[in-house]
Amino acid sequence: MTATLYSFGSLNMDLVCQTPRLPQPGETILGHQFQLVPGGKGANQAVAIARLGAPAVMVGRVGGDGFGQSLIASLQQAGVSTAGVMADPHSPTGIASIVVDRAGSNHIVVVPGANGQVDEADVQRLARQLQPGDGLLMQLEIPLAAVLAAATAARGRGAWVVLDPAPARTDLPDSLYPLVDYLTPNQVEAGQLVGFAVTDQSTALAAAQGLRQRGAKVVMVKLGAQGVIVASEAECFHQPAMAVPVVDTVAAGDAFNGGLAVGLAEGLSLPEAVQWATAVAAYSVTQCGAQPSLPTRSQVHSCLATHSLPPAIPLASTGS
Ligand code: RIB
Repeated sequence: MTATLYSFGSLNMDLVCQTPRLPQPGETILGHQFQLVPGGKGANQAVAIARLGAPAVMVGRVGGDGFGQSLIASLQQAGVSTAGVMADPHSPTGIASIVVDRAGSNHIVVVPGANGQVDEADVQRLARQLQPGDGLLMQLEIPLAAVLAAATAARGRGAWVVLDPAPARTDLPDSLYPLVDYLTPNQVEAGQLVGFAVTDQSTALAAAQGLRQRGAKVVMVKLGAQGVIVASEAECFHQPAMAVPVVDTVAAGDAFNGGLAVGLAEGLSLPEAVQWATAVAAYSVTQCGAQPSLPTRSQVHSCLATHSLPPAIPLASTGS
């Protein structure tokens, strides 16, 4: 039986301004385009899964407003089950104010709205559905208490957990790490968690090992154009990124996590799943926007046919 992949997390309407460069503090600059784009790390990961053809279920909250309805419609259009998404009449839908420059770099400010109200009732709605072998993907745009409760429920029901600790924070409870099968910070997030700057492969590996020592089973530190550093009990390796023309990196991490979960659910080995996730993320940075940039399986195969995917490079472990 195919595992179902659940995303328990945020849904945001992205308010995206395209600008020639990112503004300095206190500076006003002129942009050349504005768009409303469906986003939110939770919803993006659910869409990434569904576009790749795997069963995807979203659990979370929108507000009782038009943005919420649009976000639910976007999920449904991608093939995500939205029965677990509640419209909260007392809160606005979450939004993200995003500035993207010509090089594809971005600044993002999230105002959580209804995402910030996710609580035990939502955890229960999720937990009732989880079956042994299912995968649960989470991020940190909903309250930490809900993330911890959902990870606990997943462990109790025999589901595996992928946690993307984004946005970055320093205060993840120690009790969360042992509940996480795959922890996937980017370099900023990894640095915040371990308390030292992650600037290159060697500091990323040290961070990954440190996070494993706290109890996460597999840690993947995403380094953007430098690829990803992976540490598990059995192996450590560096998967270089694919060289593709970068248009917009928004949701690249979500694409990676969605691709990773699908690869793992389909029985790929860890290095194979990381390679697949790398290709999914590579496609996403060649397109604008969050959910519109997430590829179908055939788009990933086309990307693989036209750009080379470097092989993984084994790394010597620096710790247990
Ligand atoms: O990871 C990208 C997402 O971060 C955007 O879609 C935005 O909504 C923020 O949640």
